[in-house]
Amino acid sequence: MTHFLPNSPHARDIAAVLHPHTNLRKHLEVGPTIMARAEGIWVYDDTGRAYMEGAAALWCASLGCANERLARVAYEAMRTLGYYQIFRHASHGAAIDLCEALLRIAPVPMSKVLLQCSGSEANDTAIKLVWYHWNAVNRPEKRKIISRRMSYHGSTCAAISLTGKPEFHRGFGLPFDGFLYTDCPHYYRDRTESETEDEFSTRMAQSLEDLILREGPDTVAAFWADPVQGGAGALTPPAGYFAKIQAVLRRYDILLVADEVICGFGRTGNMWGCDTYGIVPDIITCAKALSAAMQPISAVLMNERVFQSMLTQSDRIGSFVHGYTYAGHPVAAAVALETLRIYAEMDLVAHVKALEPGSRRLQELAPRSTSMPVRAV
Ligand SMILES: Cc1ncc(COP(=O)(O)O)c(C=O)c1O
Repeated sequence: MTHFLPNSPHARDIAAVLHPHTNLRKHLEVGPTIMARAEGIWVYDDTGRAYMEGAAALWCASLGCANERLARVAYEAMRTLGYYQIFRHASHGAAIDLCEALLRIAPVPMSKVLLQCSGSEANDTAIKLVWYHWNAVNRPEKRKIISRRMSYHGSTCAAISLTGKPEFHRGFGLPFDGFLYTDCPHYYRDRTESETEDEFSTRMAQSLEDLILREGPDTVAAFWADPVQGGAGALTPPAGYFAKIQAVLRRYDILLVADEVICGFGRTGNMWGCDTYGIVPDIITCAKALSAAMQPISAVLMNERVFQSMLTQSDRIGSFVHGYTYAGHPVAAAVALETLRIYAEMDLVAHVKALEPGSRRLQELAPRSTSMPVRAV
């Protein structure tokens, strides 16, 4: 048992703070690592010890964990319009500018942007929009949602149901009914002896199609995927994967939602993972690097087809009855907008491409194909 001085920040943390993704009993013993400040890629704990933040915190602090320019923007935003909501026709400049900016850089033509507060909320809301869409076109039986095993899509009740990790459901009585999981496309682990990447992708698409046929295509509403599958260890898709998956989805009129929460904003060598892997989604969710993680903000982008059905539902019901108090928060929106300006100024995508040779050198350390594990199917 580690003992901390009474009233020390460590003792006070143990007494008051509940930490996500933490062994709660162990925390009572070991206490926290308390971060005090950041500079560039470095963060410093309260003893002055420096850590290189190689993962950008939770894959989100794209401009480091402290930023003077964004701080000034937040300060000015707070002085001029520190809070207002965008319910019931109200709006403000930061929300308008940000939504326009997102539509300008979207990987495929998108119609509207719904601002939210986190990646989980964005996915949770997108689930509702998928259901709203199929209800609007009088196909309410299209309700099931398919994601991949080993995927992570957030922690709200619905977003965690979307998440294909049983250990994240355990203890909560989740997932909700109607969330289905298809294969994680892990070529390295799950390929058969002689299978090429392309053949493996064909098998993944066939497995998805089998699941859809078993469940009944008329009951399947949407397929969810993050372009690089974060929950499976930042797994890049095997060759041909998304082309084959999208062909199946088109065959059965199933909406495609791209979760760009970790892939958006240059992380895959293009502005979006959808650009990198030829994905044409109906809905995109994004967060994290949207504001360089300096403010909690996320967005759901939807295409014209989805927007048209939302109009229909809104006409029927009298309103689009959904919203969060902090959605489109003017300070968060202003910071996100400035973040996008910084990305444009620094030519973020070119910067990422310039760093690629370094990451290729890392790949050289990967095991040779002869030593790859293979699994019989
Ligand atoms: C792919 C993906 N989607 C959604 C989320 C959830 O985002 P948030 O933690 O902002 O709710 C995450 C978080 O890591 C993620 O990696």
